[in-house]
Amino acid sequence: MMNRREFGLSLAAGLTLPALAHANTGHVLRASAARMQIAPSQYPETDVWCYNNSVPGEVLRVKQGGELVTKFENQLAEPSSVHWHGIRLENSMDGVPGLTQKVVQPAGSFNYRFTTPDAGTYWYHAHNRSWEQVARGLYGPLIVEEATPPDVDHDITIVIDDWRMSQDAQIEGDFGAMHDLSHGGRIGNYLAAQLLPKISELRKNERVRLRFINTATDRIVKVGFHGLKGALVALDGMPLRVVEQTDHTTLAPAQRADFILDVVADTDESALIISHERDGGYILADIPVRDAKLSARGVINALPENPIAFVDGKAEQSVPLVMDGGAMGGLRSGIYNGQKLNARELINNGMIWTLNGNAGMPQAPLLTASKGSIVEIPLVNNTVFGHAMHMHGNHFQERLADGTMGPHRDTLLVDRGETKTIVFEAENPGKWLFHCHMLSHQAAGMKTYLDVV
Ligand code: C2O
Ligand code: CU
Repeated sequence: MMNRREFGLSLAAGLTLPALAHANTGHVLRASAARMQIAPSQYPETDVWCYNNSVPGEVLRVKQGGELVTKFENQLAEPSSVHWHGIRLENSMDGVPGLTQKVVQPAGSFNYRFTTPDAGTYWYHAHNRSWEQVARGLYGPLIVEEATPPDVDHDITIVIDDWRMSQDAQIEGDFGAMHDLSHGGRIGNYLAAQLLPKISELRKNERVRLRFINTATDRIVKVGFHGLKGALVALDGMPLRVVEQTDHTTLAPAQRADFILDVVADTDESALIISHERDGGYILADIPVRDAKLSARGVINALPENPIAFVDGKAEQSVPLVMDGGAMGGLRSGIYNGQKLNARELINNGMIWTLNGNAGMPQAPLLTASKGSIVEIPLVNNTVFGHAMHMHGNHFQERLADGTMGPHRDTLLVDRGETKTIVFEAENPGKWLFHCHMLSHQAAGMKTYLDVV
């Protein structure tokens, strides 16, 4: 096995320069196999699947209210599609095979075109057999720029991924192993962060915006800092109304967090970005700090609000979503493809988790909501694992213990044994997938959908 601690000290290579995806420029997003330096330089290159020849795929930047237009070309040997995670877009552009579009066959293509109503940090990724396609590298950042961005010296996207690699830095081919699917997912042995653009030094008192994206298929990452001090300003793309002074946050798979931080490390020290682990942690980035001639910055303000409604917590319908199964979950039966199967039969079909008694896509939606209505979903986790529940096409708010409403999110971690209630306005018509973003769990049953009419 590779030594993660040693690995964690270097940044992976293979950085792409940010590029603008303009409307009508004939932009192409091409999925193909490639070789990339993912592990540190003393290791060989890794065979990956990727967009536009890099992992992460090209950083797509669009203006808020602008349009993203791209032709997806599938040069993989298997079908694929692209999902634009966190974007409140038109349903037909959501990229879910069998629900919103036909899967794109090898050598096939699909034209994506949608407007981006909300500024913030989003991402795109493959949505066919995603537990393998995403793990092999099919993802990239999607940055929607504010009309007036906050005043910072550096705007850096930090893509975190968790790789399961062999000693020669090749992706292990053990996808779909029931032991992974039924536990905490397919956890890797190499945690890496790529900074886009790459930055080789900072100056004391500079202000940076860091946009974290956890692209890992299953791993929860707790990021923190040394020598950087400031505030969390956005979660899952959406600005916090009040910034939160903190030096860490937890990112479940697919979650994003934006921080605005000032460099407080002294000259010739380092600014560190860390992944806190039970046994200490890994350094995800170590950036030297130079030249202390800048003066300290003022307060960190909230980002401008996005055009999304806040809910007050009252709902017109409440439909619980109950999670069962997994290892030590005592699953006895479940409905699979409309048939009631016992536990053994479910496992023979690769299923080990259920949502409201269904394993895999149910025949009917979890709920049907009329456009503009307010919906509440208590997320009841009866399992002994955490789940990162992601709703397509909508952001929701959690009703917190004191009755107030949490920030807008598109993915929420519900820990073992926990119930969290989410509330949202069903404002976006269409069939929207709702699934665990621990993609191994999704593969083994944890998905359903909502119908907004
Ligand atoms: Cu990030 Cu169903 O997706
Ligand atoms: Cu899960």
